[in-house]
Amino acid sequence: MCDITAVTSGKGGAGKTMFAVNMASILAMRGRRVLLIDMNTGMRNLDICLGLENQVIFDLSDVISGICKLKKALVREKRFRSLYLLSTPQICGKAKVKPEHMKILCEGLGEKFDNIIIDTPAGLGDEWVAAVSQATSAVMVMSQEYASLRCNGTLENSLNDLGISSRYAVINKVVPSRSGSKLYPSFEDISQSTRAVIVGIIQEDPAIYQAMNAGLPVVCSDETGITKNLIRICDRIF
Ligand SMILES: Nc1ncnc2c1ncn2[C@@H]1O[C@H](COP(=O)(O)OP(=O)(O)O)[C@@H](O)[C@H]1O
Ligand SMILES: [Mg+2]
Repeated sequence: MCDITAVTSGKGGAGKTMFAVNMASILAMRGRRVLLIDMNTGMRNLDICLGLENQVIFDLSDVISGICKLKKALVREKRFRSLYLLSTPQICGKAKVKPEHMKILCEGLGEKFDNIIIDTPAGLGDEWVAAVSQATSAVMVMSQEYASLRCNGTLENSLNDLGISSRYAVINKVVPSRSGSKLYPSFEDISQSTRAVIVGIIQEDPAIYQAMNAGLPVVCSDETGITKNLIRICDRIF
């Protein structure tokens, strides 16, 4: 059965794309057939994070409007062989994806992939609803900020309303020197604010930032502490 995981967050810039690209890479390195879907119409960036920006010709909107067959819009990530990207237009409002489109798409892809990972847009608008509509689980990326806790509460209610009960939380961009400061919520505060299973903590690290710009997921580097941590987090989810 294909697992469909939406990577989402209450607050923008939390690290959804970072987590989606690394989770997909870890699964693909293990030989799983993985499809990453970018649902950030007008703001896509998974292609850049994977170094595939020159290879996206067709995208989700072309598939939906019948301009091309789905197969033509899937871009293979050559480093892993079993990782594919389905991108979205760089023009705002062009895709107009509805939950019905996602249903047909995911049903058609379910046999071809073991995992579909959806990088969702910020906010809880129509495109976000379409993005999460077929998800069997959600990973909520949080940060150590009070605003993130509050936005996450709203996000969690929306996921609940859509029947997505399998929910995991990752606390990203953690700076160890902030721990103990009243200026930031503690891990205990975060854990009390959510009903999701907290599967890990990711430190703020320039290597992650650089990897996103270099088009090479950070987990492709040798067994660094960051890679080991991200692998452990994925193991807890799957
Ligand atoms: N743990 C981290 N350490 C350092 N930089 C990070 C980390 N997680 C994300 N970033 C950087 O933060 C920015 C926002 O991350 P991104 O994944 O694009 O967020 P979102 O998709 O939620 O908007 C990017 O520049 C990314 O490289
Ligand atoms: Mg993003």
